[in-house]
Amino acid sequence: TIKLVVIGGGSSYTPEIIEGIILRHHSFPVTEIVLVDIEEGNQKLEIVGQLAKRMIEKSNKPIKLSWTLDRKEALKQADFVSTQIRVGGLTARSKDERIPLQHGYIGQETNGAGGIFKALRTIPVLLELARDVHEICPQAWVINFTNPAGIVTEALLKHSPHKKVIGVCNIPYNMRYSTAEILNTKPKNVMIEFIGLNHYVFGRKVFVNGVDYTSEVLTKVSQGLDYSPANIVNLGWSKTFIEATSLLPNPYHQYYFQTAAVLKKDKQALEENGTRAEVVRRLEKSLFELYKNPDLCDKPKELEERGGAFYSDVACSLMDSIYNNKADIQTVNTLNKGAIPELPEDSVIEVNSVITKNGPQPITVGALPNSVKGHIYQMKAFEELVIRASITGHYKDAYLAMVMNPLIGDEVGSKTLLDALLEAHKDYLPQF
Ligand code: G6P
Ligand code: MN
Ligand code: MN
Repeated sequence: TIKLVVIGGGSSYTPEIIEGIILRHHSFPVTEIVLVDIEEGNQKLEIVGQLAKRMIEKSNKPIKLSWTLDRKEALKQADFVSTQIRVGGLTARSKDERIPLQHGYIGQETNGAGGIFKALRTIPVLLELARDVHEICPQAWVINFTNPAGIVTEALLKHSPHKKVIGVCNIPYNMRYSTAEILNTKPKNVMIEFIGLNHYVFGRKVFVNGVDYTSEVLTKVSQGLDYSPANIVNLGWSKTFIEATSLLPNPYHQYYFQTAAVLKKDKQALEENGTRAEVVRRLEKSLFELYKNPDLCDKPKELEERGGAFYSDVACSLMDSIYNNKADIQTVNTLNKGAIPELPEDSVIEVNSVITKNGPQPITVGALPNSVKGHIYQMKAFEELVIRASITGHYKDAYLAMVMNPLIGDEVGSKTLLDALLEAHKDYLPQF
């Protein structure tokens, strides 16, 4: 038997994972899925649960499905636990995005001040989940989608007794798929050597069936190839930047290397449509209207308007390879263990790894290129500061994370923004 428990099961993303499980059932025969949510998510959980039920019925796969608010009960006998939660919901996300913008800083759910506060709210909640997992189903793998995924995964690996935790993101997947598209080949033929951290990862080399296509891809990127998911602007990259770095940036790098231009765009977008959280709220509303329709028995196309589209492929391939001890290569967030010699062994990095029943084994990346070495060090040190603050709840620790973040940095501005965000999120920050 294989039992999967989805924490945050009432999410509008859930049809993704249900579809992924159905499509892989021949090789990864999940026998039971339990969707878990909290009281506030009960209504959504019911709607998503009914849709998931129809999807499974239509597929004719022998998968037992249920949904519940009783997490501890759900965890019994679990083999895989996936997490996709948003502490404080879209209301909190909207504050993470809006308040920094009002102070003249990037307002984004996983980068800068917004990312810091998402981490501060999320880490304590997931540490509690990890403790439950360790007690109730110690054999289970936790597949963490909850953002900021890299930071959250490192916090769990460092501070919870449960060590079977893997962080995932669809950005490396998107980069591989768009690269395949422009090179007119299948994604399975494309291998990108990734270096760095979640939402701060670069592609160093691109291979198609073992042949180096890096320069072709870099040329396309400097000509405007767009691989931004729905939630991120696409301003394109200059030929000079791409040629000088010789690296494939990920869409989030625009926040760091085109800060002024992104700020301008985001302020404009704020006036026109509100923040991304507000756009997502409208999207969710129409998605749930669709989900309610008893004739709908598939994942709707409209779900692709969410930035996390296709995450199920990432999650299900990962579980499939663990279950079948496949030893294939996938890009995950896992312990560095020397893959990047300059970073601590116990840092979490986003890295190509061999996936077996024992989990991910990172493939050696080697020394970081000089060009981005400084930034990657800084980002990792910053991540450590956020994790520390999320646990101590000390004002000074949170302040340090703010001031050492490359998107904030200003000593006075950091304090003003920190105070505003601490006040705005106080209901979800019991440790402060
Ligand atoms: C990207 C990121 C995810 C993030 C999502 C946001 O794909 O990799 O980590 O959650 O976008 O999408 P949304 O539709 O919620 O703005
Ligand atoms: Mn089992
Ligand atoms: Mn992500």
